[in-house]
Parts: sequence; structure tokens; C-alpha cells
Amino acid sequence: MTNTPLDQALTFARANTAAHLAQLQDFLRIPSVSTQPDHAPDVAKAAEWLAAEMRRIGLENVEVIASAVGKHPLVYADWLHAGADAPTVLIYGHFDVQPVDPIELWETPPFEPTVRGERIYARGACDDKGQAYIHVKAAEAYLQTSGRLPVNVKFLYEGEEESGGESLADYLPKHKEKLAADIALISDTGILSPDQPSITYGLRGIHYDMLDLIGPDHDLHSGGAGGAINNPLNALCHIVAKLKDEDGRILIPGFYDDVLELSAEEREMLNKLPIDPEAWRAETGAPALWGEPDYTLVERLGARPTLDLHGIIGGYTGKGGKTVLPSRVHAKISMRLVPNQDPAKIKQQFRDYVRQLTPPSITLQFEEDGHGAPASITDYSVPAMKAASKAYTAAFGKEPLFTRNGGSIPVVGEFQTHLGLESVLMGFGLPNDRIHSPNESFYLPNFYRGIETSVQFLAAYAEL
Ligand code: BES
Ligand code: ZN
Repeated sequence: MTNTPLDQALTFARANTAAHLAQLQDFLRIPSVSTQPDHAPDVAKAAEWLAAEMRRIGLENVEVIASAVGKHPLVYADWLHAGADAPTVLIYGHFDVQPVDPIELWETPPFEPTVRGERIYARGACDDKGQAYIHVKAAEAYLQTSGRLPVNVKFLYEGEEESGGESLADYLPKHKEKLAADIALISDTGILSPDQPSITYGLRGIHYDMLDLIGPDHDLHSGGAGGAINNPLNALCHIVAKLKDEDGRILIPGFYDDVLELSAEEREMLNKLPIDPEAWRAETGAPALWGEPDYTLVERLGARPTLDLHGIIGGYTGKGGKTVLPSRVHAKISMRLVPNQDPAKIKQQFRDYVRQLTPPSITLQFEEDGHGAPASITDYSVPAMKAASKAYTAAFGKEPLFTRNGGSIPVVGEFQTHLGLESVLMGFGLPNDRIHSPNESFYLPNFYRGIETSVQFLAAYAEL
């Protein structure tokens, strides 16, 4: 009978699923919405909760690090006794979550985690508390059984991923030595399906912008002023309509100049992935797929930039009618970027174009609270990818495929730039988890298998 540290850790993980679920529920009860200032104390509470948990399981040097830029704290912990020859893994996750709106569409309240069927429903269940917690549970499984980990680990978790990540961006270049590692491990992505694991090697970047258009200095009666004073809401619609055509082509001058097209080889690999466009569409509930005619679904999502309007505030939106020219309107717009596009250059091009589209009858102001991150491609020939592949195969019974994903995780690029670190994106989300949407959930079998995958990865990486 074998009784290796790996076996013991797996046995522990399998024997404690009920406790793991209960603990995850405690974590999910904390409404740590990073983008809304009212919730700042809750983000801090989530940091403290996580730090306490890390201390409890036996991690060392646990600290809640106050933000140096006046935003949300970071949490750091490590365990560095695997020996001088053992590699070091830097594990990253985020404990902040997206806003819950529209709240009325949740079947159960977003911060009252509820198990229905094989899923747990709560804001952050998958993105990213459930996934971030997986690695804490994997470390616990080793520390509670053999009392040691197969590799050195450093945990660095942030409370600001969903709102720009400035605190971490400031921290990284100042703590290169402390954070030195051989590989970063991140679970904040998804896999293709419950029985087809996958490793994301490419993520899109982002430029997020917010702007105000201001007309008269107070709301006006639309009969008294309409036709003689420009309405900023109408002006906004004109501007937005000129950002992108009906087929999804972005009209900002120079926007595509630096776009790196896929190589024939990569295109072939991506288009062979087992993604059924019709099944994918059905899950979204949209009546039809849409997008740039010359690109396939996987290409549109993984390798093409895009632009989306996320919200407009302006005018009267209550019940019944109100005849008003609003004084001021606000818009939130982002552009997803692909390799080689520079977020700073895109910001400049976007703003120049919007300025050019704004008529003299309207005042335009940009908010400096937006954020940017370049796209990232990770080198999937690094040894850690083999360990990840082995780990997924052991836990899911199937070898993972390599995919690109359209979301953004700014820290992946920052790890490359500041720490020279590649990241293994070991995701456990599924396409129907509804992240960022009402009724977000996490498929519990992936939570438990995720813990096993992480346990397997640490052992496999130590062996390399
Ligand atoms: N977990 C997501 C990113 C993601 C989603 C990757 C789905 C792969 C598949 C992450 O938490 C996220 O939402 N990031 C933001 C970053 C932005 C606000 C800078 C995003 O992509 O919108
Ligand atoms: Zn997210």
C-alpha cells in the first residue's frame, strides 16, 4: 500500500469536502465588491478572513499589506521549507468581486451562498473566491498530513483585480526579491467542459474608459429648449454609433495598426478545439451569433480586439415619461486588446477620436479612473505546463487542451514584466458559470477536483 505525501494529501482533500464547502461559504458571505467605495471595509474584511485562514493552516509570514496607493490591501503568505533545490511557486488569486447589479435578477441573494444541485450560487463563487481558495485547501491538505509541501510556495492575493489592480501593480516592482519564484500559478479562468480540461495560454488586454458629456448647466424643459440646445444624450448616441460598425469592426483611426494576426498553425489549433458554436450560443441565450464576418467564434473571442459599451447614465429612466434635456450624461466603454496592441496608445487613439466626434455644443470630460492592461501570451513550453498537464490528467482523467480566452488578468503581464515569471493559468470555471452576471455559480465537482489538481500539480512540479 502506497502512502506517499501525495496520497495522504489527496485522501485528506477527499475526506474533507463538506468542511471545504462550509469554509468557502463563509468566504463568499463577505461582499467584497472592489469597485464600489461603500464596500471598501468588506474588501478589507475578506483580506483578514483569508489571512486568518492562511495562518490557521500553517502558512508562514502571513500579512495583510495595506495599499500604498490608497486602495485595497494585498494578502501575502509563504511556506519555504521544501529545500534549497526545490522550486518555488507563486500562487495568485483575487478576493474582490464584481458588483451584483441587477440585484433583482438573482434567484437567491448574491452574498447568501446557496447550494442548488451541483452548484454553489453566490457572487465570486467562481470569479475568483472559489478558485483562489482551491490552492489554500491544497496547501492545507499537505500541511495537515505530511506536515510539509513538496515545493516552496508564496501566496499573493489581491483585492482589486476587478477594478484596475493599482495596488498590486505598485507593489510588484518594489518587492521583486520577496516574490521571486520559478513559476506563477493562477486559477481565474475556465476549462472547456466538465470532462475536457484546458489551459489558457492567451488572454486579451483591456483599455477601460469613462467619459461625461455636458450640455446646459441644468436640466432643461425639452419643449422650451429642444431643437436649440444640443442634448448630450443624443450626442452620446451619435458618438457611440461611430465607434464600431454593424459587423463589429472598430472605426477608431489606427486601432488595428499593431494587431498581431494568428499564425496559420495557431489558427488551425484553435479552430480544432471542441467548441460547438451552436451550443455556445444557446448557453448565452442570444438569438444568433454575431461578429466580424471573416473570423470564426474562437478567433473572435481569443484573437480579435473588440469594443463594448457597458453602461450609460443619463436622462430620466423612472416610470412614465418626463420631457427633459439632461444636463450631463456618463458612459463606460472598454476595448479588449490582443497581443502587440499597447493600451496607452489605444487610450490616446480612442480619446482623440471621441474629441474629434464631439461637437462644440457639448463639453467632453474623461475620467481618470479607467484602467489598462496589455494582452498576454504565456510560453506553454515551460516545464510547469507539463506538471499542470499531468495534474489535470490525474484529476479529470483527460489531458488538457490549450486555449486562448477573451478575458483579462492584468497580473499575468505584470509578472512577466517585473518578475520574469510565466503563469500557468490553471482554471476550473465553466462556460455557464455566469461570472460578472446575476446568478454566478461554481460547479462544485470542479471545486473539489480543482483542489486535487492543485495537490497533484505541486507534487508533479517538485518531481521535474
Ligand atoms: N476571471 C476574470 C478574467 C477571465 C474571465 C479570464 C473569463 C478568462 C475567462 C477576471 O476576474 C476579470 O474579470 N478580469 C477583468 C479585468 C479588468 C477589469 C481589468 C475583466 O476581464 O473584465
Ligand atoms: Zn472577473
